[in-house]
Amino acid sequence: MGGIGKSAARVAVIGTGAIGSAVAYRLLRSGHDVTVWNRTESRATDLVAAGALPARSIREAVSASSLVFLTLKDFAAVEQCLAQLDMDLSGRTVVGMYTGTASEARVAARRVTSRGAHYLDAGIQASPEMIGTDTATILYSGSPYAFEQHRTVLGLLSTPRFVGEAPEAAAVWDLALFGVWYDAQLGLLRALETARAAGVDVVEFSRTASTQLSHVVAAVPSTVSEMQRATYPPGPADLTEHLTVLRHLIALRADRRLGDGGLAEVAARVEALIADGRGGEGLTATVG
Ligand SMILES: NC(=O)c1ccc[n+]([C@@H]2O[C@H](COP(=O)([O-])OP(=O)(O)OC[C@H]3O[C@@H](n4cnc5c(N)ncnc54)[C@H](OP(=O)(O)O)[C@@H]3O)[C@@H](O)[C@H]2O)c1
Repeated sequence: MGGIGKSAARVAVIGTGAIGSAVAYRLLRSGHDVTVWNRTESRATDLVAAGALPARSIREAVSASSLVFLTLKDFAAVEQCLAQLDMDLSGRTVVGMYTGTASEARVAARRVTSRGAHYLDAGIQASPEMIGTDTATILYSGSPYAFEQHRTVLGLLSTPRFVGEAPEAAAVWDLALFGVWYDAQLGLLRALETARAAGVDVVEFSRTASTQLSHVVAAVPSTVSEMQRATYPPGPADLTEHLTVLRHLIALRADRRLGDGGLAEVAARVEALIADGRGGEGLTATVG
């Protein structure tokens, strides 16, 4: 993580919860003027003791700053805070640093840019203690100009990665990555639950399950290449063979607490492709 830039940005951190505090402490340590505002004032006391400037209102915090982080719980909180900024925000960059949806990012970007400021949406691939270390990645989308202008400051917090000019790009990327994790982790949990219910030794089973997960990781490049080329070689099984296994799995998971993980929809899609004469293709054809 880099040191202070040529001219230290005056930064406002709106929301000094876990992420906001980590951001503010990191910027203070690198010599930036950091103005803080938090709905519950007492939650910013330690930061003020560490050198942050307390603001009496969001408006006051933003007035003093060229770079504003909205490190808030959710979009509802972002909206409530933005509603208090009915002022000219020219020359400023506002960073929406919260976990939200694509449409929320578009609305936030519209609100901010209509007041003359640049907007960056941030997807936080980090926990608070990772902020300011090389293990954190924060995804940004929106104004490329603002990203370049504040790259040094953003680089203090994490490895910053600009993922697109569409304001929602970081939210989509962030949520899609969460989706990868949930699908893999819940797939593992379903398998372990099924094995345990059948009296199978789950420790023994989990070793083979690990190997199975590693096959998914190993196949990432070829899967992407198939998507890009729109060609779907069958690989170890074609769609007709997949459908048989999918039906067995749906039956096996019928009474399980976590449900079938959407396999019924997948099977319907595979059936439609087979009916279309594409039964000899591979699984990637389902998203073709
Ligand atoms: N923590 C993580 O590991 C992590 C990782 C990745 C992403 N994120 C995302 O980062 C965002 C912040 O997370 P966090 O862990 O910092 O949450 P947090 O510790 O609960 O802090 C939430 C902040 O939002 C403020 N807030 C909530 N509702 C508000 C409202 N209506 N008006 C004004 N301020 C409001 C809170 O103020 P009060 O103190 O007054 O309640 C607090 O400052 C979330 O979107 C979260 O999903 C967190």
